[in-house]
Amino acid sequence: ATNQMWGGRFEKGNRSDVVAFNASIAFDQRLAKHDLIGSIAHAKMLTHTKILSELDGTQIIGGLEKLQEKLMAGKLVFSDTFEDIHMNIEHLLQQEIGDVAGKLHTARSRNDQTATDMHLFMKDEIVTIMSLLDELMEVVVTKAEMNVNTLMAGYTHLQHAQPISYAHYLMAYYEMFTRDRERFQSAYNSADQSPLGAAALAGTTFPIDREYSAQALHFAGNYQNSIDAVSDRDYLLDFLHASATLMMHLSRFCEEIIQWNSYEFGYIEISDEFATGSSIMPQKKNPDVAELIRGKTGRVYGSLFSLLTTLKGLPLAYDKDLQEDKEGVFDTIDTLKACVSLFTDMLASIQVKSDKLQASLKDDFSNATELADYLADKGLPFRQAHQVVGKLVHYGIANNVPLQKMSLTQLQEFEPLIADDVYDVLDPENAVARRISLGSTGFDQVKYQIKQAKETLTQK
Ligand code: ARG
Repeated sequence: ATNQMWGGRFEKGNRSDVVAFNASIAFDQRLAKHDLIGSIAHAKMLTHTKILSELDGTQIIGGLEKLQEKLMAGKLVFSDTFEDIHMNIEHLLQQEIGDVAGKLHTARSRNDQTATDMHLFMKDEIVTIMSLLDELMEVVVTKAEMNVNTLMAGYTHLQHAQPISYAHYLMAYYEMFTRDRERFQSAYNSADQSPLGAAALAGTTFPIDREYSAQALHFAGNYQNSIDAVSDRDYLLDFLHASATLMMHLSRFCEEIIQWNSYEFGYIEISDEFATGSSIMPQKKNPDVAELIRGKTGRVYGSLFSLLTTLKGLPLAYDKDLQEDKEGVFDTIDTLKACVSLFTDMLASIQVKSDKLQASLKDDFSNATELADYLADKGLPFRQAHQVVGKLVHYGIANNVPLQKMSLTQLQEFEPLIADDVYDVLDPENAVARRISLGSTGFDQVKYQIKQAKETLTQK
């Protein structure tokens, strides 16, 4: 049989495998709620502009509202026969109110309809994701506040570099998540334009009111060009890019959690709730949740690249390729929500072993820069100071004695400028406390960063 909606110019129906291949209902039924919202706004506009009679409009809107109720009750049944969510709903409306349902599609195409649905849907999803991100940021700040005085070695090249406050390390992630949130806000803004009324690509001869529709749907504005309106998927790329970057941040954090949770580091312990055992090794407690978040980062990157590749080389305006915009985005939304909320709870439940963190600073020479700065402060050119301390570290490693345990005479053999005030400088706590530069690990600076963060979060 030929298609009910567009079969007029066809002699033969589609093969059943073609019907299945074309159909998007299996995944775009996720847009049902927003398709109905979009259609109600369109019907209201058509009535408002008198394109539809008051009677037809009332019937159509009533029917759509009925479908909304059925959708919420889980009573709408979709079918491959009607290809996508738009034609499924039109068919259901026809069953509900009869042939007047056919008037709903006046001055509209599935091209602007699918774009409208997706814009509305994305706005809602992005708001949800931003609030999950806010909860994550709250936890990061709370953890930081509890750990201002917890010292650890800061790393570069995964080698002990300089003593830092654990809170400072956590607040670095806070900054990343702040930028993530801005990126999601910006993706929201790009989704906040209405394509409705662009019709197939060229607009319509009917005296529609796009302002009216856009307002009814709470869009900030309208696409200015009808060809762009139906072919633009930049807002989805913005979302996928924001998602990929957020996942990259979570993945880096997870990588550190996995390492720190290892026997070798032993800096933290992941709660049992977020770990799993081994089917053979009874002693195992594996950080699977963190590993899976790290792993799922790949599929989110994949969705970004998949859509970029789909769009590359597409001629204007609508092409069926664009139907491929959905699954990767849907999968990304599901992945992101699960990852952000699980990560938040996992982070909240992590036990920090501050004694182990602090102990790692005992004999590690991470105070070498302090000594070089000390000598520079006493007038030795920093380059020379660096040389002297390098030799001291070399001597210390060879003789298994950290800088702070060398006697004053030993130290002075390398550089007579060293006096007995040096031991204060070598203390890791002082190393942190003495850092006063903006954004540094100094306790006061870290407390300031936390205070700022808390103020920002309470404004949300
Ligand atoms: N299911 C389609 C999509 O997601 C809807 C638009 C179809 N338009 C068309 N002219 N075939 O892109």
